[in-house]
Amino acid sequence: MVNLAVFCSGNGSNFQAILDAVRRNKLKATVAVMICDNPKAYALRRARRHGVPIVLIGRDAPWGVSTGDPRKAYEKILVRILRNQRVDLVVLAGFMRILTPYFIRAWRGRILNIHPSYLPAFKGAHAIRDAFEAGVKETGVTAHLVTEAVDAGPILMQEKVKVSQKDSLESLEKKIHRIEHQIYPKAIGQFIKNSLGGRNK
Ligand code: GRF
Repeated sequence: MVNLAVFCSGNGSNFQAILDAVRRNKLKATVAVMICDNPKAYALRRARRHGVPIVLIGRDAPWGVSTGDPRKAYEKILVRILRNQRVDLVVLAGFMRILTPYFIRAWRGRILNIHPSYLPAFKGAHAIRDAFEAGVKETGVTAHLVTEAVDAGPILMQEKVKVSQKDSLESLEKKIHRIEHQIYPKAIGQFIKNSLGGRNK
């Protein structure tokens, strides 16, 4: 079975969608660990409820490293944890920390992300708001591989979402999240089948 590490910083609704898909046997994988950088994240509660092991490493934790790049020190710990947990695939689900090339190289081709726009449109941390304020008639959701270029890795799955005249920012957010929850588990499953083939036998 493929071992996933899901990275979250906040609500964790995509994490929940992944847990539900695993429970329903729609996604053939195990959530081996949830990595979190925010002690207040609701995602932690979801993990506890489902008995998923949690690794909480806050952004300001003293990692026992007094010299060098603190981001790399943070990521070195992450890499070690993922190896110990025998993780096959890193799944970013609202993780609000940009990973450095060090981490991306260590997990090259095995990091996925979900982004709330129809990439390449509206990259960045405020994609839903940016699309709404731009007054576009449609935006969307994209599951993609993570590379060094932020929100620009190879696209795995995309779906468009119409913005109606009646939409508020909140209603658009809801629509987008609903689609994310549908396509992310599917995209992960498809990626496992196509690119990690054999590990599920
Ligand atoms: C989602 O909109 C996702 O596209 C973006 O961050 C948000 C996370 O939401 N990367 P949640 O924590 O999964 O509810």
